[in-house]
Amino acid sequence: MIRRIAINTGGGDAPGLNAVIQAATLAAIRLGWEVVGIREGYSGILDPQNYPDGGLVRLTPEMVRNISHLGGTILGTVNKGNPFKVTESLPGGMTVEHDRSDEVMQAFQTHGLDALIAIGGDGSLTIANSFAKRGLRVVGVPKTIDNDLASTVLTFGFQTAVSFATECIDRLHSTAESHRRIIVVEVMGRYAGWIALNAGIAGRADAILIPEIPYCIDKLAQHIRTRNRPYSIVVAAEGAKPLDGQVSVLAREAGRQERLGGIADRVARQVEQLTGKEARSLVLGHLLRGGSPVAIDRILGLSFGAAAVAALQRGESGIMVALQPPHVKSVPLDEAISTMKVVPPDGDLVSTCRALDICLGD
Ligand code: F6P
Repeated sequence: MIRRIAINTGGGDAPGLNAVIQAATLAAIRLGWEVVGIREGYSGILDPQNYPDGGLVRLTPEMVRNISHLGGTILGTVNKGNPFKVTESLPGGMTVEHDRSDEVMQAFQTHGLDALIAIGGDGSLTIANSFAKRGLRVVGVPKTIDNDLASTVLTFGFQTAVSFATECIDRLHSTAESHRRIIVVEVMGRYAGWIALNAGIAGRADAILIPEIPYCIDKLAQHIRTRNRPYSIVVAAEGAKPLDGQVSVLAREAGRQERLGGIADRVARQVEQLTGKEARSLVLGHLLRGGSPVAIDRILGLSFGAAAVAALQRGESGIMVALQPPHVKSVPLDEAISTMKVVPPDGDLVSTCRALDICLGD
């Protein structure tokens, strides 16, 4: 018997989060359930003193009425908020980890919360799965602009990121051509090159570098030299790496995954040297996570939100809602987080690149 559910958003934001919150809230209220949003992942529950509203916010139809077209998340999010491993900084630069998951379990009881809809990527869904195994009733909703979650054909936020990146690449053609330059554009994509590949193809790039296909800088330079075009556009996923080389790391910080970045600058400097052509680089970075979700991401978010409530109503737990066209289905969280959906090096999109003479650096 469900009377009250909680919703949280975790990890990097993605356009479409508010659509999920809206649909889940409205669908739950239709069933007579109360809905509560947890501020910033689990922080609202673990550290309520940090929030003027006590870290939990009652979600009403009025509160969610006009949010499905907005980027970001009205609940806020964090990407270093694992309650099973809370990092504390000690004097002298040392850190210790605490397991605060008991406090979360206890808080669900105290606040009369019967279930959790956890909206997040691989990290947040892994945490949600651990809570499900501890007995919390949990339904996960897949989110990431990188589209690297297994078991679902699409995650919301991805299409918005691809559309925006494509528009940016379109704009770079004229300036690159006017100056006869090479321009290297860096897009997000830590483990998977889906954004780079899709935006690169749509934006008519000359070369696309993705994590799944380590690149040879000499082959890239050779391709640029022999192309029958006075300028070149290269799209690089942040997680792309050279053959026998490493990814470009911007920063390392305790308790969170390393921040990637710098691949575009690195490649631009190298191809400039190897080709003798002037090169420039730019990083689209968090611009890809911002802005209003495109229609498909709104629809996906709304469908996922409604499906998450329906799954709870059916008594399901430990599952993730997933797009498996033409349906939104439930898949076990265990399965959803067991592998990442990376670009198959022999897949259709890669073949399309080869047919179009787009260099992949191999
Ligand atoms: O959401 C995933 C992602 O977009 C990755 O591609 C990227 O590495 C990461 O987020 C960056 O997150 P942040 O800078 O917010 O920590």
